[in-house]
Amino acid sequence: MLQYERIAHSKITKKFRAEGQQLLFSRGKGGEVSDANGVPYIDFVMGYGPVIIGHSDDLFNEILGGYLTNGIMMPGFTTFHQEYLERLLGERPGDRGAFFKTASEAVTAAFRLAAMRTGRLGIVRSGYVGWHDSQIANSLKWHEPLHSPLREKLRYTDGMRGIGESEPVLNWVDLRLESLSELLERHRGRLGCFVFDAYLASFTTPDVLRQAVAMCREAGLLTVFDETKTGGRISALGYDHDNGIGSDLIVIGKALANGAPLSILVGGADLLAHAERARLSGTFSKEMIAVYAALATRDILEKPTQDAPDGWAEVGRIGTEVAAVLSAAAKEAGVADLLGARPVLGGGMFELVYHDEALLGDKERREALLGALTGAGILLLEGHPSFVSLAHRDLDWSDFHDRARRAFQDWNGADRG
Ligand SMILES: Cc1ncc(COP(=O)(O)O)c(C=O)c1O
Repeated sequence: MLQYERIAHSKITKKFRAEGQQLLFSRGKGGEVSDANGVPYIDFVMGYGPVIIGHSDDLFNEILGGYLTNGIMMPGFTTFHQEYLERLLGERPGDRGAFFKTASEAVTAAFRLAAMRTGRLGIVRSGYVGWHDSQIANSLKWHEPLHSPLREKLRYTDGMRGIGESEPVLNWVDLRLESLSELLERHRGRLGCFVFDAYLASFTTPDVLRQAVAMCREAGLLTVFDETKTGGRISALGYDHDNGIGSDLIVIGKALANGAPLSILVGGADLLAHAERARLSGTFSKEMIAVYAALATRDILEKPTQDAPDGWAEVGRIGTEVAAVLSAAAKEAGVADLLGARPVLGGGMFELVYHDEALLGDKERREALLGALTGAGILLLEGHPSFVSLAHRDLDWSDFHDRARRAFQDWNGADRG
């Protein structure tokens, strides 16, 4: 038996089970993954969003392999980083980008820039924006020898969080402008940053978000649109850019590099000029595999496909179709009064929707649904958007429909039983 017990799991890495056992995956190809026993599953988790072309895509692998002959880490940034930003930000000539591996890093960077710019540590937050706390505040120059005069001086003392008492983090819960205005008023003078998970844009309108950003700016906050789930997935740059929301900073991540770890903080040159003073980089910021993967991803997604002007539009079409099949299967299984599925922000993501109030509040029954879908060979997320890739174009759609119907019937039957 494989020793997966050695892995320290988080809640999200142990979601999927079969016959009481947690699944351990061994392979992915196209829109499918296989577990350690060789059992295949249609995969709508896609690594929680990063995989956008598909698992182990032949063309992607070929382009990536070609780049690898240049090496994977140089003393500093490379022509490949430069080329990638040129392509990513071509339509935003005034903008610059800072490279990170994870979006948590990029969001932490945005918080720090905001605090340095405004002198205020408080944050208004909407949505999940990452998991970091402060790691470098008030630190020494650790690599200096013990007796070095440079060693002891405390550094990185401004713009840090998690170290004082005057740094509120407030939730903008209901996305009403009145409540945002109340928060801004009540905590006036202590708030430096507004951060918004672009997925929540599906709960409101571009107009409300444009007003929210304008209100926050008026109150002196730096505004951050967190496009970790959406940037490079719903379109090349994401929701803020497409809808002219006008935030000061944009965080993009996940889908940029088809699964390789890359996240980028985008903003005006004047703002990103503080990156050096703010110490916004680490050893792997200049790593090249993810940038190669991002260039390969763009090579593929930028091209028109048979049915769509580019890969992002095609991914949207595919996700819309997936949601429609799930809804149709729910109807056929006689559970359409309980649930269905809908595309999110154009279809690069989709989500289950619960029409029944009791079910909506029933965590156990909702989790049982995930179990039934896994049992039928479909992996997706619940209580979170699911993700599609270009490779799902080649799904056996009628097999997918049958599996989904069976899962819904099993789930409903087990519940009644
Ligand atoms: C909107 C948003 N921001 C930030 C993060 C954190 O990203 P990472 O896991 O790459 O640190 C996530 C991850 O799901 C996210 O969805």
